[in-house]
Amino acid sequence: MKIMVIQGPNLNMLGVREQHIYGPMKLEQIHAQMKDFATQNGVEIEFFQSNLEGEIVDKIQECYGDVDSIIINAAAYTHTSIAIRDAISAVAIPTIEVHISNLHRREEFRQTNMIAPVCASSVVGFGAFGYHLAMMGSLQIMSEIRAVQEARQAAASAE
Ligand code: DQA
Repeated sequence: MKIMVIQGPNLNMLGVREQHIYGPMKLEQIHAQMKDFATQNGVEIEFFQSNLEGEIVDKIQECYGDVDSIIINAAAYTHTSIAIRDAISAVAIPTIEVHISNLHRREEFRQTNMIAPVCASSVVGFGAFGYHLAMMGSLQIMSEIRAVQEARQAAASAE
């Protein structure tokens, strides 16, 4: 099983940017923790960060047929990008979106979310720990899908 973690614009600045909102952890530290958790659970994990919308769309498309679950923080593109939304919808891979800050308590322009309606779920406002929660959610979703597939196969072979 494989998880792709996609990080949007300015998340490469974590640890530097607005620490009172996004906390002190650097992206590399967050990814190192995620990698440890993935290894402990026997799951393959890959990381991708880009400041460019088209590159994020390309990466989501590359996941098709290769990845079982996507964890994405589309950052500012969350509020604007129909292209990223359509890409998530197109590949139909269970996707969990993460936001470090609690969007619901922030500016009006952050209340528009293009991504959430095409995601399996959202993790919002837990700081960097949200990525860990998203991984737990991702493992749960993947095991539920596998259980359904196994039940279908068992039913088909019993016919
Ligand atoms: C963010 C919230 C977005 O509104 C913002 O543009 C970001 C980070 C978050 O993780 O809280 O860059 O996605």
